[in-house]
Amino acid sequence: MLSSVLLAVLASTLASAHTVITYPGWRGDNLITNSSWPYGMQWTYPCGGIPLTTNRTYWPTTGGAVAFQPGWFQGHQTAFLYINLGFGTTGPDGGPENMSFPMIAPFQLLGPSKGPYPGTVCLPQVPLPANMSFNPGDNATLQVVEIAQHGAALFSCADITFAAPGDEKIAKVNESNCFNSTDLGFAEIYTITTQEIGAAANMTTSSASRFLYRSSSAWSWLGYLPLAACSLWFLL
Ligand SMILES: *[C@@H]1O[C@H](CO)[C@@H](O)[C@H](O)[C@H]1NC(C)=O
Ligand SMILES: *[C@@H]1O[C@H](CO)[C@@H](O)[C@H](O)[C@H]1NC(C)=O
Ligand SMILES: *[C@@H]1O[C@H](CO)[C@@H](O)[C@H](O)[C@H]1NC(C)=O
Ligand SMILES: *[C@@H]1O[C@H](CO)[C@@H](O)[C@H](O)[C@H]1NC(C)=O
Ligand SMILES: *[C@@H]1O[C@H](CO)[C@@H](O)[C@H](O)[C@H]1NC(C)=O
Ligand SMILES: *[C@@H]1O[C@H](CO)[C@@H](O)[C@H](O)[C@H]1NC(C)=O
Ligand SMILES: *[C@@H]1O[C@H](CO)[C@@H](O)[C@H](O)[C@H]1NC(C)=O
Ligand SMILES: *[C@@H]1O[C@H](CO)[C@@H](O)[C@H](O)[C@H]1NC(C)=O
Repeated sequence: MLSSVLLAVLASTLASAHTVITYPGWRGDNLITNSSWPYGMQWTYPCGGIPLTTNRTYWPTTGGAVAFQPGWFQGHQTAFLYINLGFGTTGPDGGPENMSFPMIAPFQLLGPSKGPYPGTVCLPQVPLPANMSFNPGDNATLQVVEIAQHGAALFSCADITFAAPGDEKIAKVNESNCFNSTDLGFAEIYTITTQEIGAAANMTTSSASRFLYRSSSAWSWLGYLPLAACSLWFLL
């Protein structure tokens, strides 16, 4: 089942751009640039311009596979990949109100060229976000984000319904349908701190609002507001 999805997508989008989620099934084809989406649909948060769908894929409550074809774009030989989860029905489309729950540490993708390239990435066991659990029958949405070299991001989503591990409704995933193409490489992303944050930057939300309040009262203490009122008075 998985491999037939892969083949269908490969055949239909060779001339297009951006990321294609091949498993779980994506919300729909958002590899579109037209007058409604003059910059290209897939650049739109949170799900590349496609609202919540009802044709969901069953996915294990213990986490499972996510597969996608990242190479449907031009000019970006490398990219950062993120996979996030959203849940709930309070979003504008009746789906998740955000996709703010990371499932994996982001990683870098190394593509073979700057042109569009074929190739599949499959992560066989994407875990649930930290400290989060779901019951069979619960709904959620998986979001794949691909950050291009210039910092803008491509978004695609797959709507899922959780099922108990081993449930026959879940597509079987094994090495014949879940693999990384050999022409794609990967790199880990890490940062090096070059300057520790100072104590002055260490604000809580309430101290931040006190800071804003103080700075606006500093303006009136300087006499700026009375002065402005005064010159208006003279103008009259
Ligand atoms: C859901 O339906 C849409 C519209 O027919 C289709 O484009 C999309 O591929 C379907 N997704 C799944 C997971 O079947
Ligand atoms: C652009 O493509 C989207 C997605 O297929 C479609 O909903 C929209 O109507 C299209 N806009 C125009 C002006 O064709
Ligand atoms: C999950 O989504 C399906 C289809 O969108 C819907 O029929 C079902 O009621 C939802 N389940 C829950 C628990 O909200
Ligand atoms: C994101 O969505 C979840 C589920 O609706 C909600 O609990 C959480 O507060 C939201 N987070 C933010 C930062 O809005
Ligand atoms: C998960 O829960 C543990 C134990 O309560 C806590 O230490 C940890 O910070 C939590 N992680 C996240 C990402 O919330
Ligand atoms: C992988 O799973 C597919 C679909 O269930 C099955 O047809 C195939 O034989 C499996 N391959 C291996 C090597 O187990
Ligand atoms: C594909 O590569 C990613 C990134 O290195 C890795 O996490 C994943 O396990 C690989 N997939 C398979 C099927 O080996
Ligand atoms: C910021 O405040 C927290 C809590 O008071 C403290 O543990 C932490 O060391 C402070 N960090 C800096 C850089 O001052």
